[in-house]
Amino acid sequence: MSKYQIAVVIGSLRKDSFNRKLANAIVKLAPPEFSFQQVQISDLPLYNQDDDANQAESVKRLKNEIKSAHGILFVTPEYNRSIPGVLKNAIDNASRPYGQNAWAGKPAGVIGVSIGVIGTAMAQQHLRNVLAFLDMPTLGQPEIFIQVKDGLFDEAGNIGADSKQFLQNWIDKYVAWAKKHAA
Ligand SMILES: Cc1cc2nc3c(=O)[nH]c(=O)nc-3n(C[C@H](O)[C@H](O)[C@H](O)COP(=O)(O)O)c2cc1C
Repeated sequence: MSKYQIAVVIGSLRKDSFNRKLANAIVKLAPPEFSFQQVQISDLPLYNQDDDANQAESVKRLKNEIKSAHGILFVTPEYNRSIPGVLKNAIDNASRPYGQNAWAGKPAGVIGVSIGVIGTAMAQQHLRNVLAFLDMPTLGQPEIFIQVKDGLFDEAGNIGADSKQFLQNWIDKYVAWAKKHAA
């Protein structure tokens, strides 16, 4: 087993999600001491504070996956200049009940890809605000705002040649960050 396990949270449920493609591709650039597991958020209930004392099995599963990970990689689209509701719902579910926030202390990385020209910049800024409250040390630089374009991925689903160095640099910085703050 790899020394560091990173939970990957993808803010899109779409079958052909560009963000899932990005998540699948960028983790291939990480060193072997890191492994990445995508967590399921599609079966979580809509967060309801009345359920705090009796959380659904899917919420308990997510919380256990987050707690056992050494860090969290968020890969998110931008919806209406913010993060998608499914992502916020997952974050809220795993942050409760009060005092049992599964995200606390986990070193986070935030990236995203969009068809829009600002490449998820607004969504990422909103997400950073949430992660600060959740007490997650979040990599500040480099930032990554990617717009979908031909050649972003090659036919095998790897990062295309033009973007590879840029994304390699980001993952190198994130793994160093995760090692430093591994929780
Ligand atoms: C509800 C909704 C809102 C969107 N809002 C934005 C937006 O604010 N900014 C943007 O760049 N793209 C926006 N888009 C377009 C997304 O960038 C595009 O659908 C992208 O493919 C979503 O990511 P995915 O491929 O990982 O599902 C929006 C799409 C949807 C469905």
